[in-house]
Amino acid sequence: MKFFLDTANIAEIEKAVSWGILDGVTTNPSLMAKAGASNFKEHLKRICDLVEGPVSGEVIGLTPEEMHAQALELASISPYMVIKLPMTVAGLQVCKRLNAENIPVNMTLIFSSAQALLAAKAGASYVSPFIGRLDDISHFGSELIREIITIFDRYGFETQCLAASLRHPLHVVEAALAGAHVATLPWGVLEKLIHHPLTDIGIERFLEDWKKVRPEGW
Ligand code: E4P
Repeated sequence: MKFFLDTANIAEIEKAVSWGILDGVTTNPSLMAKAGASNFKEHLKRICDLVEGPVSGEVIGLTPEEMHAQALELASISPYMVIKLPMTVAGLQVCKRLNAENIPVNMTLIFSSAQALLAAKAGASYVSPFIGRLDDISHFGSELIREIITIFDRYGFETQCLAASLRHPLHVVEAALAGAHVATLPWGVLEKLIHHPLTDIGIERFLEDWKKVRPEGW
């Protein structure tokens, strides 16, 4: 399973890169605004250079013409750029066009397996089901991942299921169990994945016992 960071915050991305487990980054207009990315393109370029892996940047146009023009501009930033398109008719049309132009697409705001199937048919490289937002309205977000994976496997689609809107470590585990190819995590969730109180207690006890022996040279 690949791990992407769901942020536009440079400091967070630098930390995750230093941990050696980062495969990519996803951004959206809200995350870019939160990171104070006033120079949109420059900010995305910096992220691409740091990550050296897929970096999703979202178009904000609503017509196919606007979306396509913005997509080309984003794609010109770096070969690592992946174009995030919303799951609309215009989004599907532009996805098909970008696919023919060899520009990878992440179809975002996916809330049903039918939408994911359409995006895969239009040639999306990734579909992003929003797990947390489904849970928020009392649906089983992780069940959607299971459905998407079943459909993609049955028809041999190469589109990757990118579990998004993950709010806590259990969401990551659910996404992994359901077979998501990628999980995109906010920094806080990535940090929480590491810790377990029994690990801390275990280290403490080992160190205490070691002190009793104190072998030479250690
Ligand atoms: C990532 O691609 C999505 O934009 C993001 O995970 C949405 O998360 P949220 O529902 O917590 O805003």
